[in-house]
Amino acid sequence: MVPLILTLLFFFLLSSSPAISTNYEGNALHALRTRLSDPTNVLQSWDPTLVNPCTWFHVSCDSQNHVIRLDLGNSNVTGQLGPEIGELQHLQYLELYRNNFEGKIPEELGNLKNLVSMDLYDNSFEGGIPKSFAKLKSLRFLRLNNNKLTGSIPRELASLSSLKVFDVSNNDICGTIPIDGPFSSFPLQSFDNNSRLNGPELQGLVPYDFGC
Ligand SMILES: *[C@@H]1O[C@H](CO)[C@@H](O)[C@H](O)[C@H]1NC(C)=O
Repeated sequence: MVPLILTLLFFFLLSSSPAISTNYEGNALHALRTRLSDPTNVLQSWDPTLVNPCTWFHVSCDSQNHVIRLDLGNSNVTGQLGPEIGELQHLQYLELYRNNFEGKIPEELGNLKNLVSMDLYDNSFEGGIPKSFAKLKSLRFLRLNNNKLTGSIPRELASLSSLKVFDVSNNDICGTIPIDGPFSSFPLQSFDNNSRLNGPELQGLVPYDFGC
């Protein structure tokens, strides 16, 4: 029989170790990696046997070893972004611009409550802009330009009062442009080159997507 004191010590170490408490973030990142093709080995340092992902290249952590940045801009990465990204609850900066990400933008991104910046521009994302982005109350920068996105701009995004920069230019967005909240100050260039996008919605009219 293991003496009780050893058993207690074991559980104490288990519960107090920062390595174990953040391991889920390493697991989530590793799961993301398995979906991607990485021809120039940018993700080579992503070793899931390490106690946490904080020493991996392109990953940054805070003092509690929680992942707060993912910097994979310009990294020649190809493939789909998996739902695991939504497990990185402490993430503030998601920088995936200028790669070849394809497929849908996961709605799980709406779970990243601390996100300040989401840069997905210059990829091949398709499908709609998730309505779940309306939960990202800290979001200041949302750049989705130069992809293959379709559907309308979710009206729910007008509630994002921290949003300073929004860009969906060069996609295939349709419908009308919201005019409420932060949308009152975005320049029209943010919406350029979406051939099926009509102008700003009309004040006082209930927004209506014309078969969009
Ligand atoms: C991406 O690929 C190009 C061409 O193969 C290469 O020159 C460049 O260094 C790669 N970038 C990275 C970050 O590995």
